[in-house]
Amino acid sequence: MVLGLVALALVAAACAPNATQSTLEPKGPYAQQSYDLFVPVFWVAAVIFIIVEGLLVLFVFRYRHRKNQTRIPPQVHGNTRLEIAWTILPTLILAGVAVPTIATIWDLAAKPTGDVLEVNVLAHQWWWEFDYPDQRILTANELHIPTGRPVYVTLCAVGFGYGTPVPSQGGPPAPSACQGPPDSPPPAAIGAAVIHSFWVPELAGTQDVVPGQTNHLTIQADEPGVYEGQCKEFCGLSHAYMRFKVVAHTPEDFDRWVAEQQAPASSAVAGPAQAGQAIFLQTCVACHAVAGLETATGQPVLANGGPNLTHLMSRGCFRGCTLAVTDGNLRRWIADPRSVEAGSFMPDYGLSSEEIDQVVAFLNTLE
Ligand code: CUA
Repeated sequence: MVLGLVALALVAAACAPNATQSTLEPKGPYAQQSYDLFVPVFWVAAVIFIIVEGLLVLFVFRYRHRKNQTRIPPQVHGNTRLEIAWTILPTLILAGVAVPTIATIWDLAAKPTGDVLEVNVLAHQWWWEFDYPDQRILTANELHIPTGRPVYVTLCAVGFGYGTPVPSQGGPPAPSACQGPPDSPPPAAIGAAVIHSFWVPELAGTQDVVPGQTNHLTIQADEPGVYEGQCKEFCGLSHAYMRFKVVAHTPEDFDRWVAEQQAPASSAVAGPAQAGQAIFLQTCVACHAVAGLETATGQPVLANGGPNLTHLMSRGCFRGCTLAVTDGNLRRWIADPRSVEAGSFMPDYGLSSEEIDQVVAFLNTLE
């Protein structure tokens, strides 16, 4: 009875109405390929498990020691036929499983050809940055992709303080840490980088993000929608807060999104937003960029360890995609980052309530 209840509780614990991060519901061809490998391997393993454990339990009960039993059964050591059989059989099974496994590994590791979207994904402590070199877009927390098109992701880990060049329209794309030539020394700040792992269960398997190395992964979504992702490798205090979303659009909607992201942020700010912009230029610019915004001395504002905020209001989430972009959340975050995220690298500038309102008013202009 107790065993049954425990088993039921364990099974029930796997149920959730909104469990979106399931590898068992692939939503694209690359996830489907992994799933198509998983299913036969699972059944092979399940059948072997049932046979082996079934025989084990049968023998344990059938030949157990009984009271008043004094006879010791004949002691047998070694049976050449059996030994050969149970050496060869698993070898054949494993060799059989290896054939589709290795084929799938090679398939998934190959760089897709044809109409491919390339995105550099930079893993920070504790948020994801998305750099589209061909589109010259730099964004964070939400990876926008078109449906029906392979997205070739290049993953690299960067340390706090690494500033991803904010793309400017017109000139050559500024290479990010993910694009340096293979033998070039990584920027100094990358030395403080740590390992992460990129995972969107519905779209692909996982891929580790390793400092000093670039790894690759291809994802693709069949249908428009939002696919939840998260860091899957312990990477420090706020590892659990390192989430992201993949937003898949129809190709037309994706082109629209690209055009919106390429447009400069609004320059006309007035009233409290103007006061907020002045505060932003004295404090937030230490880490955050807004394309087109210049400091008091006319220098462009660069992303230096924090997300590029140029089109912040076009995003649904911030803070490693754990908070919705709302005035209340932005206020809470600016007022006391450490209370929202343990170990946050975002400093508390000790702004007054009025100053925070002004900064939030300015952020609201970044559409
Ligand atoms: Cu990044 Cu865990």
